Amino acid sequence: MIVVAGGTGNVGREVVRQLLEVGEAVTALTRDPAKSAVPAGATAVAADLTNPSTLGPALTGAGALFLLSGYSPDVFSEAEKAGVRRVVLLSGGSAETGDRTNAVARYMIDTEEALRASGLAWTMVRPRMFMTNALQWAAQIRAGVVRAPWADVPSAVVDPADIAAVAVQALVSAEHEGREYPVTGPEALRPSDRVRILGAALGRELRYEAQPDDEARAEMQAQMPAEYVDAFFSFYSDGTLDEATVHPTVAEITGRPPRTFADWAIANAERFR
Ligand SMILES: NC(=O)c1ccc[n+]([C@@H]2O[C@H](COP(=O)([O-])OP(=O)(O)OC[C@H]3O[C@@H](n4cnc5c(N)ncnc54)[C@H](OP(=O)(O)O)[C@@H]3O)[C@@H](O)[C@H]2O)c1
Repeated sequence: MIVVAGGTGNVGREVVRQLLEVGEAVTALTRDPAKSAVPAGATAVAADLTNPSTLGPALTGAGALFLLSGYSPDVFSEAEKAGVRRVVLLSGGSAETGDRTNAVARYMIDTEEALRASGLAWTMVRPRMFMTNALQWAAQIRAGVVRAPWADVPSAVVDPADIAAVAVQALVSAEHEGREYPVTGPEALRPSDRVRILGAALGRELRYEAQPDDEARAEMQAQMPAEYVDAFFSFYSDGTLDEATVHPTVAEITGRPPRTFADWAIANAERFR
């Protein structure tokens, strides 16, 4: 049996679905099974990663655990106590920067370090920007104009289903233990490219407008803690995070190329209508 934390999220839901497809028994964790549905076929178990002592019953009998970054290292002691062999961690590219002054990088670096220091076997999955981040533009896309910052910053955006496909291989086989995998899509795209591709998928002319930094900062401050806003400005305004480099990981691990943003846009067009 394999336990998937964040089994209702963009990546976790796909990990659950793809594990079920290859015949694995899956326990999917969510804080509230009544509120958030896990994919049919998985056993939903209520657990909160901010309270690791709630994890014990779900982890007992699990061979592997898919985990999100940013929670207490006690999650790893609970996993060891329960007899889990390996953890596949959803980390991120910023873990490679080693920059603990950056709040996003810090929580990923800290989680990776705690996992390495545990007695568990591990695989670090380090995706770059998710294609699903474009869903933040849905209201603007309906209105026809997307104002977004960092006009000149390209990202090799990746489909969460491809991140999940890499994670699934690492969950079901010992072959990927001790490996760190950068995960990207097939091409680096600027925000204006992504807006154009979404327009083509929707059959509509969309306009992209470069959003000034001060306006973007004010919007972000209303949505997240200040240290995370600073973290994203450090990544994309100061250029401390390289998300433009395309890595061959998806093809190497899964045997097929990563999906393009155009593929993702067509498959998800209804979410923008
Ligand atoms: N977006 C990006 O571009 C990007 C890039 C690199 C790395 N990442 C990393 O990827 C992570 C996951 O992204 P995602 O898009 O898959 O996330 P998501 O769709 O926002 O889902 C988050 C998941 O976390 C679960 N969760 C939240 N708090 C929890 C808690 N206290 N205990 C247990 N589960 C909890 C939620 O489950 P319930 O609500 O059902 O409890 C949900 O399933 C991010 O947090 C980030 O660290 C993201």
